[in-house]
Amino acid sequence: MDQIAVRGGQALSGTIPIAGAKNACLALMPATLLSDEPLTLTNAPRLSDISTMTQLLASLGAEVSDLQDGKVLAMSSHDLNNHTADYDIVRKMRASILVLGPMLARDGHAVVSLPGGCAIGARPVDLHLKALEALGAELDLRDGYVHAKAPGGLKGAEIEFPFVSVGATENVLMAATLAKGTTVLKNAAREPEIVDLASCLRAMGAQIEGEGTSQITIQGVERLHGATHPVVTDRIELGTYMLAPAITGGDILLEGGKIGLVGAFAEKLDQAGIHVSEEPGGLRVKRKNGRVSAVDIVTEPFPGFPTDLQAQMMALLCTADGTSVLEERIFENRFMHAPELMRMGAQIDVHGGTAKVTGVERLKGAPVMATDLRASVSLILAGLAAEGETVVSRVYHLDRGYERVEEKLGACGAQIERVQGV
Ligand code: UD1
Repeated sequence: MDQIAVRGGQALSGTIPIAGAKNACLALMPATLLSDEPLTLTNAPRLSDISTMTQLLASLGAEVSDLQDGKVLAMSSHDLNNHTADYDIVRKMRASILVLGPMLARDGHAVVSLPGGCAIGARPVDLHLKALEALGAELDLRDGYVHAKAPGGLKGAEIEFPFVSVGATENVLMAATLAKGTTVLKNAAREPEIVDLASCLRAMGAQIEGEGTSQITIQGVERLHGATHPVVTDRIELGTYMLAPAITGGDILLEGGKIGLVGAFAEKLDQAGIHVSEEPGGLRVKRKNGRVSAVDIVTEPFPGFPTDLQAQMMALLCTADGTSVLEERIFENRFMHAPELMRMGAQIDVHGGTAKVTGVERLKGAPVMATDLRASVSLILAGLAAEGETVVSRVYHLDRGYERVEEKLGACGAQIERVQGV
């Protein structure tokens, strides 16, 4: 298994290009299942999660070719010859559940393995299933699989989600494009990835209004056609690299970054003493002066502070002047990075969903272990600021969501290298 070794202490300066969003791409790829014409995605990120979705779609009979070194995904679901998403693939990645709505909408039947829990919590899919039932699907849960049928096709309905779910909104949004009549989604997720999915579906001929607000209306159509769609910029990769000059000092331009993607996060950086400005080429980030200040964080659905940036922000606050309180409201067990950061000298007190972080002058390098995707990159950020060497193991978590991390940070002066196959 690969490791990443970081020698901390350098201020970082330069330019980092931000890739297309992993989470948007993982929802856009299953949209190919809605049409028998080709769907092409440009600006795709090159990540292991994208390869897993490619493998899943291929197992269903879709053709997926990656062109231009993986930046373009040309997909065709002309001949779907299997309607079962197997446990062996689904267990690797929860987003696999997103093939359920599209397959059911197009062909009236689908069998998808239940994803099961993951390190950051139980993460059920009950909201996805209830909403598909509201569209007329008949579901039977047996042998760890969801067996879904809609013999007469799906029918539009009004669905109010009890709380915001990104994945459930995506699954039902896709299914509703081919349902008979009108579907209204209330308390829908408002994330940029939802807006991106709606815009791709519209390019395929879907009739959708209201994406980006909490109410989305979909008028079902007979069929969807082919399209070419650019994947939106990855706001989590953007936010992660915005923290690099914040934690080390220096000045970095995040190419392709836009403030609208990271509003609540940039506000917190401003309060912590980090200057963020939007330029024609992207977002420029540097410290205002001296040590960063403590700030309190509460994670919320978009447009609030994203849970996917909580671990990385914690790394920054470990070096801040004062005590910060971080409250995690989206997932029940998302502080696994805390004990690893404490191995580097951080002072963190976790109680349930709240972490109290008292900043220290300087973190110290240590061998640490990545426990999930965002936790792994928070340890790299901490390593960039720490004295001495930090070696992060289990970086396969990192490779799910960050492409060429060592190249991107290395180009800004970081001393970082991948140690292969340790
Ligand atoms: C997506 C993102 C993930 C991000 C999360 C929240 C992708 C591939 N992943 O995950 O990176 O952290 O949004 O912004 O886009 N829940 C239920 N029942 C359900 C569905 C969700 O109880 O049927 C709960 C979850 O356990 C969690 C909360 O709702 O506590 C929010 O989850 P959700 O928004 O659905 O997250 P994902 O779509 O899985």
